[in-house]
Amino acid sequence: MNTAICRIDPENFSDEELNTAGDILQKGELVAFPTETVYGLGGNALDPRASAKIYQAKGRPSDNPLIVHISEMEDLCRLAAFVPEKAKRLADAFWPGPLTMIFRKKDIVPEATTGGLSTVAVRMPSHPIARALIRRSGIYIAAPSANSSGRPSPTKAEHVLEDLQGKIPMVIDGGGVGIGLESTIVDMTEGSPSILRPGYITKEMIEREIGEVQIDPALLAMKENVVARAPGMKYRHYAPKGQMTIVEGDTERVIAAINDMVREKQALGCCVAVIATEETRECYQCSLVRSVGSRKTEGSIAAGLYDILREMDHLGAEFIFAESFREDRLGQAIMNRMLKAAAYRLIQV
Ligand code: TXA
Ligand code: MG
Repeated sequence: MNTAICRIDPENFSDEELNTAGDILQKGELVAFPTETVYGLGGNALDPRASAKIYQAKGRPSDNPLIVHISEMEDLCRLAAFVPEKAKRLADAFWPGPLTMIFRKKDIVPEATTGGLSTVAVRMPSHPIARALIRRSGIYIAAPSANSSGRPSPTKAEHVLEDLQGKIPMVIDGGGVGIGLESTIVDMTEGSPSILRPGYITKEMIEREIGEVQIDPALLAMKENVVARAPGMKYRHYAPKGQMTIVEGDTERVIAAINDMVREKQALGCCVAVIATEETRECYQCSLVRSVGSRKTEGSIAAGLYDILREMDHLGAEFIFAESFREDRLGQAIMNRMLKAAAYRLIQV
């Protein structure tokens, strides 16, 4: 299959530019498109055959459910059997935007889309191309991140092509995304809402709207024996090919420890890389040092993380040593993704 690339300027486009993509989606085929978080691989959420194509293109286990993307508030009650008051408040506060909520599903949502679950994940994205595409196609768009299963999520069209070229009919190239980490997921099906995946919308922001929320114990404990409630969280994710280790502690000690480990691996003839920050990039004695962003702006680190993880593969890094980040606000989402990439390999110094 030839993958067409459709370039669209998110700041200046007409809906006609989305005609071909909209037609492809209507026919039950797939289109990758930008959202404000990461690129998504879209298909008709109400068509089990389209969902099956998504799983196949990504090589994704079929019990890992998809997020359904909508463009209007009215769409929510067509998909969700019950929308609690707190969910309405969160939708008012954060939609359109990087928040996904889980509801009990209505029958029209096929189990092929929800991985066999009786619940459905719904999100209203804010990216102008995503919104226009949902409207133009006239469907609800099921869209996981547009990467091959297990690889870092795509934050540029190039990343999508790296993984899915030849497997899908079209990619809409709308340039780099703004946030760079997947949406926050909140389960609204139980009495007290709980965060299943941290993201740009933080626990503090959610609690300001609806009071106390839980964090999925699987997220906090990260212990093998705690069963993750967002099925996607149990798979090894976002992983570069090399073995990644996160080093945590006082900055000077972290730098010294990383330099020691780099020396040790290099002496064995291994290809080693360091994931540093703008503030520390000059401090490492390693030929492959990449800065993920500046500690002064967490947003730049979130936006740069997946690109850096992919670059580690391009560099052929066999061992990767990374600095750690404070686990508050956006840092919680950043560390969540980094720990997964490192398969929870964390050293304290
Ligand atoms: O930012 C995003 O959310 C991006 C863009 C494209 O919108 N999408 C995304 O999709 O990250 P994906 O498939 O990579 O991650 C969806 C996550 C998975 O961890 C999945 O298990 C969880 O959402 N999920 C989906 N439906 C669920 C449900 N009914 N119950 C619990 N978890 C669910
Ligand atoms: Mg994903």
